[in-house]
Amino acid sequence: MGRDFPLFRTTSPVPAAERAAILSEPGFGRHFTDHMATAVWTPADGWHEHRITPLEPFSLHPSAAVLHYAQEIFEGLKAYRHADGSVWLFRPEENARRFIRSAQRIALPELPEEDFLAGVEELIRADEQWVPASGGEESLYVRPFMFATEAFIGVRPAEQVMYSVIASPAGPYFPSGVSGVSLWVSSQYTRAAKGGTGTAKCGGNYAASLAAQIEAREHGCDQVMYLDETGGEGNLEESGTMNLCLVTSSGELVTPPLGTILEGVTRDTILALADDFGLTPVERSVSLDELRAGAADGSITEVFAAGTAAVVTPIVGFKGDDFDFLIGSGTPGKQTVALRNHVLDIQYGRAEDKHGWMRRVI
Ligand SMILES: Cc1ncc(COP(=O)(O)O)c(C=O)c1O
Repeated sequence: MGRDFPLFRTTSPVPAAERAAILSEPGFGRHFTDHMATAVWTPADGWHEHRITPLEPFSLHPSAAVLHYAQEIFEGLKAYRHADGSVWLFRPEENARRFIRSAQRIALPELPEEDFLAGVEELIRADEQWVPASGGEESLYVRPFMFATEAFIGVRPAEQVMYSVIASPAGPYFPSGVSGVSLWVSSQYTRAAKGGTGTAKCGGNYAASLAAQIEAREHGCDQVMYLDETGGEGNLEESGTMNLCLVTSSGELVTPPLGTILEGVTRDTILALADDFGLTPVERSVSLDELRAGAADGSITEVFAAGTAAVVTPIVGFKGDDFDFLIGSGTPGKQTVALRNHVLDIQYGRAEDKHGWMRRVI
């Protein structure tokens, strides 16, 4: 059992009609539920003041360490409503453990797994009416985060830290059906280096990714494919918010090894399911040259990216400084779509949860 997060219920929730209008077209990340979870950490008292309160702005001293040195980490997971009205999380323990690993890397205090889960679950229970109805691909996106609040300008681990959870209803990632995207292979920017923060889910990684994202947009791509070297050479790493997977004509499902990439929960899920789809899971490096050659000779038949937000996004092509090529015929691959549907079926309770991945909240 995790710590209690006592509920201090809001007296001015979003009116029901307004909430219904938001839930009918939630988009992503623009609307927030009525409450938030918080807990405070200091060296003397450890984690304390756990509570669920009305959603409100934080009050931060201008010298708060997070504003200067980006001592911050976060997580992202979803709550799914099943046909019988119950509400479930998908492998939230993995997010709790990754939150601990991220905290270790950014010198933030560790939040025990059960407290992470308690904050997430109590917030969902308080804001149950914000969990979209079953039937579509809507969910309640939950965003736990931790940041250094101490008022002190000096580079050392902060001695006052806040844990918080907010939630935001999310619409289907592909409102008009699953479509594929092209990735921009950045030759100018990398995402992570050995010994850096690539495996941590820390805000700084995402700030550093924005320039590459602008570059991608300028070249007509939605997302970036990072390599482990600049200059347009090296091994494939991951996309901006998703891990990369390739399907080969010999029946392998290949994904780059852990080390400098985020240890995605969806990536791990896909590896565990590969066998059921007649694919052999393989974690190994793939160079850009190998990708180009494999796309040209047909030995790489499908490529997709895996992450919580989109589950599985078909990657139908790659563009770079001096190349622009398609994978297969440039349409979403069969295995890609089948894997995507299967993960969604487990998450929404339509397929048997053989691995015990689902955790009931309501
Ligand atoms: C950089 C990066 N890679 C991969 C992922 C996919 O991770 P997950 O499947 O846990 O959402 C994410 C999203 O969290 C991410 O931000």
